[in-house]
Order: sequence, then structure tokens, then C-alpha cells
Amino acid sequence: MFDKNIARSQYNPENGEYKLDAMPFAAYSPAYIVSNEDLRAAMTVLQPRGADVLTVAGSGDQPLFYKLYGANVVDTFDVSLCAKAMMDIKTAIIANKPREVYLNVLREFDKNSVVANTPAFRDIQAICPPDSRVFVQNMAGCKICRSGGLYTDSVPFASEYDILAKNVRRPFNFHWVGLDSLGGRLNQSYDQIYLSNILQYKCDFEYVFGVVNSLRPFLKSNGKIVLQVSAYFIGDELKVFNKLKDAVAGWARVNVMRGKAQDMCILQVR
Ligand SMILES: C[S@@+](CC[C@H](N)C(=O)[O-])C[C@H]1O[C@@H](n2cnc3c(N)ncnc32)[C@H](O)[C@@H]1O
Repeated sequence: MFDKNIARSQYNPENGEYKLDAMPFAAYSPAYIVSNEDLRAAMTVLQPRGADVLTVAGSGDQPLFYKLYGANVVDTFDVSLCAKAMMDIKTAIIANKPREVYLNVLREFDKNSVVANTPAFRDIQAICPPDSRVFVQNMAGCKICRSGGLYTDSVPFASEYDILAKNVRRPFNFHWVGLDSLGGRLNQSYDQIYLSNILQYKCDFEYVFGVVNSLRPFLKSNGKIVLQVSAYFIGDELKVFNKLKDAVAGWARVNVMRGKAQDMCILQVR
């Protein structure tokens, strides 16, 4: 449950900066404005047309690209409530406003990540889902985005925006929860569970094996768990993913793929 005082205590009152280091993601850690991942390349591999999907919310681009590539149900989760706010702001603009407004909001948030103070937020707050609008308003003075990363490749092209405007008419269903407890929150099964850029921060075998087993009950037949990590950080991930092949051999097959910037491990139920 959102508590304004707990949330605001995570920020330095002097300058509105999040108190923890940028890397540990937590309940109120600022969201990416735009994804730094190659989501088009990922979707080309994952081919989600018609699939029911659960994805990390991240910047909101992960669920949006799933919709763009034809996924059916797209539900989301994230340890940070700022990720939900960023995602809700994007989906509200897409459903109600032209692409110019979307681009302007991203540019303004990049310049001033104390989102509540921006004219761009004031202009769109009336269309923002009430829980995210109240959250952003309560976080006035605190940075809910990370500035300095407008990765233009992850911004939908004009033709893609038109497709999203038809297909994304309401906010994505969201679970505010860390990966460790995700299984305990779910009540439906999915064709794809997309864990993108989470495991590089904690990639020991026992942890990954535990996560995979906790999500297994929520996979449809032939369902996939996608463990994607940035290739720039690659350390023990390949060793862990290769070990996973044997550990889950009784119920799933594991395909480890090296990419230019992203490495992917797809575990698929047999
Ligand atoms: C790891 S960050 C990296 C940014 C990402 N490349 C993007 O495009 O948004 C992705 C998202 O994962 C979330 N996250 C990180 N660790 C998590 C965890 N253990 N459980 C749930 N969400 C987590 C972060 O809050 C963030 O929104």
C-alpha cells in the first residue's frame, strides 16, 4: 500500500534525489523514462502475437512493445511504484493524445525528473489514472524518473504509435512486488513471463532456480520464462543459465542466446 510519508522518506529533502545508489531497485526507485533495451530485437525473437504475457513494467516500454507486436493480455509487475507511474502516464497519453504530446512529455521529464513540477505533467494529469496521478502529486519535489537517457530507438515510430493508440485503451494491470515474491501474487497463467534486465543484479544459481520454480505454476503448456540480461554486464549469467539446462531438464528446455547488447535465456515448458 502506498504511504506518502514512507515514500518521501526515501528521498533527500535537500535536493529531491533518491537516497539509495542508482543500482539497487526498490519500492520507490526512479523509473527509466525510455527503455535502454533493444525491444524490437527482443520481440522479433519472442513473437508474442496472441500470447498472454506477464512482463516487468520498467519504463513502460516493455508492455507497450508486447502490445505493438500483437500480444493479447499484457500484465505487469515491478518492485518500484515509479515504474507504474511512468507506464500509466505513457498509456494515458497513447489512449488520448497525439504522438507530439507523448514526445514532449518524455523530453520534459528528461530535462526535469521532478515530474510533478513539469507543465507537461500538469497538462496530462487529468487523463492519468487516479492512483498514479495522486502518487506523482504526492511525490512533488522528488525525482521519479532518471534523466539522461532518451533512447530514441525505444520511442514508438509514428506508425507504431497509431497501432498502440488502437490497442492500448486502458492502463496495464500491475503488481507492485519484487521478483522474489511475484509467484505469491499471481492468479492466472501466461504464455510468456518476461524478466528483462533484473537478474544481472543477482545472478546466482540458487536464486535463479528458485525464481523459475516459483513461476512454473503460472506457465501455460509450452509457456516460456524469458531471462534477459545486458551483455555489457555479462558475468556469471551464462554459467548460471547453462546450469539451469540440466536442473529443469525434467519439465522444460532451455535455449541460451547471445545477442549484440542483450543475452537471453528462454526456458520453455516441454
Ligand atoms: C533493472 S531496470 C533496467 C531498466 C530497463 N532496461 C528498462 O528498459 O526499463 C528494469 C526494471 O526492473 C525493475 N526491477 C529491478 N529489480 C527488480 C526485482 N528484483 N523485482 C522486480 N522488479 C525489479 C526496476 O524497478 C526497473 O523498473
